[in-house]
Amino acid sequence: MNDPAATPPRSSIKSFVLRTGRMTLAQTRALEDLWPQYGLEAGDELFDLDHIFGRGAPRTVEIGFGDGELLVTLAAAHPERDYLGFEVHTPGVGHCLLRAAQLNLPNLRVVRADAVEIIGRCLGENTLDEVLVYFADPWPKKRHHKRRIVQTAFATLIASRLQPGGKLRLATDWMPYADWMREVLDPHPAFYNAAGEAGFISRPESRPVTKFERRGERLGHEVRDLEYVRR
Ligand SMILES: C[S@@+](CC[C@H](N)C(=O)[O-])C[C@H]1O[C@@H](n2cnc3c(N)ncnc32)[C@H](O)[C@@H]1O
Repeated sequence: MNDPAATPPRSSIKSFVLRTGRMTLAQTRALEDLWPQYGLEAGDELFDLDHIFGRGAPRTVEIGFGDGELLVTLAAAHPERDYLGFEVHTPGVGHCLLRAAQLNLPNLRVVRADAVEIIGRCLGENTLDEVLVYFADPWPKKRHHKRRIVQTAFATLIASRLQPGGKLRLATDWMPYADWMREVLDPHPAFYNAAGEAGFISRPESRPVTKFERRGERLGHEVRDLEYVRR
């Protein structure tokens, strides 16, 4: 049972808009055929991750994995770790399942639902080693800033699910969002910024390039990487 104080109340403000992307036939089939193998349905109980993955290994959560290419690449490169991805965009989930099955990955599971809600309800405290938030929707208009996923309550939630020493890694190609992340996370008592005064870390070689990063590059956007360590 989680400490209710570490579980923020469910918010009606969502960090995403459900896009009605067209599903390819292969993605539709992947959802039907591969969901039992890779998909997790969230109920009211905590996920039993040791049981789900069949072992106790260091665990990475990726929030908003898009088409899942980064998640799949990392899971293939690190068979010693387990990966749990959250995404609400159904075609992206279908794409991720297809790629996971092509590589026959045993160490990856996906949740097709709001990460904030399900992490609060179904992931136990001190269970994660790493949380990735790469190229989260920047919600550039001021009236939409409340929809940005990085908020103090979100940081408190993630801190409670990370083990001490665990890492929250973020990247964005939207400079005002990079500054916002620092404004929220630098003063948060549960984290320290691994870059110290510099604020941003160099691009980690271990971070594969994502679709949204390539799009940002085409638009001439610079990318900022951030790393926060759970105290
Ligand atoms: C800009 S895209 C980036 C996708 C991917 N990380 C990449 O770099 O290619 C942000 C993604 O986060 C997903 N997302 C936003 N808020 C989410 C939430 N609360 N739970 C799950 N997915 C979310 C959106 O559906 C979208 O696919």
